[in-house]
Amino acid sequence: MLHTYLTTSWHLRYPIIGAPMAGIGRGRLARAVSEAGGLGMIGIGSTESVELIAREAAIARGTDQGRFGIGLMAWAIESRPELLDSAIEASPFLIAISFGSPAPYVERLHQHGILLATQVHSHAEAVRVAQAGVDLIVTQGAEAGGHHTRQVSTLPLLQSVLDSVQVPTLVAGGIASPRGVAAALAAGAEGVWVGTCLLASPECENTERARSRIVQAQDTDTILTRAFDVAQGLAWPPHYPGRALRNRFTDQWDHQVDALAQDRGARQQLAEAIAHENYDLAHIYAGEAVGMVRRQRPAGEVIQQLGDGAERLLRGRFSRLLAEPAQEAQEGQAILADLNNFATGGVAIVANEEEVLVPFSLPSTPQDWKHHLVQDHFGAAAQAYTTSKVHARGPDLAWIVEAAALTGKEHVVDVGTGTGHTALALAPYATEVVALDITLPMLEEARHLAASRGVTNVRFLQGDACALPLNSSQFDLVACRYAAHHFTHLAQAIGEWARILKTGGKVVVADSVSPEEPEIDRFLNEIEVLRDPSHGRNYRISEWFSLLAEAGFTASLVRSWTLPLDLASWTQRIQTPPASVAQIERLFADASSLTRERLHIGLNEKGLLSFALPAAVIVGVKSV
Ligand SMILES: Cc1cc2nc3c(=O)[nH]c(=O)nc-3n(C[C@H](O)[C@H](O)[C@H](O)COP(=O)(O)O)c2cc1C
Repeated sequence: MLHTYLTTSWHLRYPIIGAPMAGIGRGRLARAVSEAGGLGMIGIGSTESVELIAREAAIARGTDQGRFGIGLMAWAIESRPELLDSAIEASPFLIAISFGSPAPYVERLHQHGILLATQVHSHAEAVRVAQAGVDLIVTQGAEAGGHHTRQVSTLPLLQSVLDSVQVPTLVAGGIASPRGVAAALAAGAEGVWVGTCLLASPECENTERARSRIVQAQDTDTILTRAFDVAQGLAWPPHYPGRALRNRFTDQWDHQVDALAQDRGARQQLAEAIAHENYDLAHIYAGEAVGMVRRQRPAGEVIQQLGDGAERLLRGRFSRLLAEPAQEAQEGQAILADLNNFATGGVAIVANEEEVLVPFSLPSTPQDWKHHLVQDHFGAAAQAYTTSKVHARGPDLAWIVEAAALTGKEHVVDVGTGTGHTALALAPYATEVVALDITLPMLEEARHLAASRGVTNVRFLQGDACALPLNSSQFDLVACRYAAHHFTHLAQAIGEWARILKTGGKVVVADSVSPEEPEIDRFLNEIEVLRDPSHGRNYRISEWFSLLAEAGFTASLVRSWTLPLDLASWTQRIQTPPASVAQIERLFADASSLTRERLHIGLNEKGLLSFALPAAVIVGVKSV
């Protein structure tokens, strides 16, 4: 069994989704793919009827309530919203909205308990849809069959997107063999989204003649063209050509689609060719992977071979690729034993000679998956945080200690402790400090730091800020420094602070904040997410106040200031990929004069591109 988000959270047998293919993949194909252990999708074209959606969904669902998805085009539902209405009515597990922005539909689908996927064609588009809140990103490379942009091929797109977003990501475009699936998973994708490799399956709504053309076609036989859309009068936006098998029609018209639009004879010729299954002229959409489709066979067999084959390849290849010399083999065993411990229930962290067993389970929800990404990200950057000037010595540490006003008797929790700077600053004035973080390498760094300073009243605990592994009404102070902007649900985290604090207890927060102007708020959060995909949101001070009030705290602002940051060290600390740094630079260059002025964007005294990040210390006292 392959363990990815699709298999552990969605409980699919294989991390494979049968792509929506309008006109070709409907209820029968979707059902066959899902029955085989993947997730099958019904493709809905721009001119299709709402009755077709209901009918094909019933076929995909069967009498045993099988799962399936429906794929729609964003540009089509803008003019025909009834397509989306009936897709929602059909109650699929997943709806994909591609070729345009999915953002307007996120909330509505979530209200209906339907997950939303979207295919993206560039790094920037992936970042945008991740911010919009989609549940699944599919990187669709230019090798793919059907429509997409001409821009980026599968592998470069996948790498840059995996480095930049924290949403489970699948690969589409050119995957038609176990090797392709294995490569995608090894790179870090949660699964694959395949179309072309299913085109020679009898469950497709294409013809026997089309399937035999597919089987005969070579990898070099495709073309990315608008000719078929133009000739059929379809309203595809011009920047989405479709990859199809080259034939006489594309040879003649691909380079002169404007003339084709005016040529009634040619359009008539195509309509007749489609009616007579004459594929010398009629279209067969297919991707470059068509060269790997060697025979007609049931879709279930294709899915099973992809999934089982990929697993075999990964097992064999990894054990050879990663084989260690004899001496290191023993260490390998020890690491494996640790990992088993991880998977089966807990991991021990030693703090002050005391072992704390922290529950651990494989992530099973998109939110858990985000935590995983936060851990990955900060795990890699832990040491840089121990030495970062801002984190180790920011003046706010002193302000937090001052605002906490501890007397030595208090029980304190430092939520999102990172490498422990705040916990260690508070420890001399408290009975006990629990230093809590979700990232183990950070806690390890924190523990080393505590040991090196001889601090003995700090207990280290791995845990989720939104579900604190701590008893209610036990603590006098919660501190949270430069962490809240990572929380998936701030209101939930504040609710947890209210729960674990005694009445009269206090929370002291120091964090980056957004200016109150919406334009600058958006700008700042956009560059933050580019720099670090695990960034959630810099909240405005007004948002902090209302969230704290809702949870029963009386809030006050202790201080606000700005942190001067130069772009180079700010991004190096978190190992931001170069493509994202370049995008931040572009955003800086294009920023409005108001944004530039408020965030002090410019060159600092060393000539480095820099800006000033607003920050604040806020105190809340639990009044009930
Ligand atoms: C015949 C065909 C029709 C397609 N129709 C749609 C569609 O209606 N909606 C959609 O989102 N993608 C559509 N696609 C694109 C697929 O979702 C997917 O990105 C692509 O098939 C993956 O690349 P591959 O063909 O190399 O496997 C279609 C692809 C093909 C081959």
